Amino acid sequence: MNEGVFVTGTDTEIGKTFFSVQLVKALRARGRRVAVMKPVASGARVIDGRLRNEDALALLAAAGTDQPYPTCNPFCYAPPIAPHVAAAQAGEWIDTQRIVTLARELASRADMLVVEGVGGWRVPLNETEDVAALAAHLRLPVILVVGLRLGCLNHALLSAEAIRHDGVPFLGWVANRIDPAARNVEAMIDTLRQRIAAPLLAELPPDDGEADLSKLVTRFAAGAP
Ligand SMILES: Nc1ncnc2c1ncn2[C@@H]1O[C@H](COP(=O)(O)OP(=O)(O)O)[C@@H](O)[C@H]1O
Ligand SMILES: [Mg+2]
Repeated sequence: MNEGVFVTGTDTEIGKTFFSVQLVKALRARGRRVAVMKPVASGARVIDGRLRNEDALALLAAAGTDQPYPTCNPFCYAPPIAPHVAAAQAGEWIDTQRIVTLARELASRADMLVVEGVGGWRVPLNETEDVAALAAHLRLPVILVVGLRLGCLNHALLSAEAIRHDGVPFLGWVANRIDPAARNVEAMIDTLRQRIAAPLLAELPPDDGEADLSKLVTRFAAGAP
């Protein structure tokens, strides 16, 4: 499966969903049929008697298809805690092979599959596997979203090193200006450009401004992620 991406990030709450939604919209604007997954989510509320996660709902809304919710988010837990703990509390375990099977089905019916991870790269999913293992099973190229704020250089460089170490295709990274008060953001971007051995794919402006994802989307439209 190569017509797709796996979106990870330097942390939770740094803009993975924010970026993924924009990517889905940009792909749709190019006429691509997009399937979406937020395969594992902890932090959900009951809507019409069913647990629903905000990220999954946002991705489905952006995709604008009739993709059924459970195919997007098969593992959904109410408490906003570590997913493997949330799963254990619910008497379940997160079966990454089930996610892979679902992803294959979705990918076969769409032009492009956008998968948002959970937390960061090394978040455990069950006793033996983590987000990295899921991305590897899915065989999707990885995009790392960096939330530009104090402390992000360490998170970004460790994440990039781990992605490389894990041997998955590393498509590149995205600079997200999540914190309007952050200082020296340009210097942060320069530093990361020099030290991450993968391209800067896009810069996301603050305050909900639309990013220019045209170059990135053109790559996918050409079928060469
Ligand atoms: N560039 C940005 N400008 C403004 N708000 C942003 C930006 N990036 C993220 N946010 C906001 O920050 C919060 C966390 O982003 P989100 O995409 O949900 O993070 P994650 O998916 O990594 O947990 C959300 O409220 C989101 O709308
Ligand atoms: Mg998210």
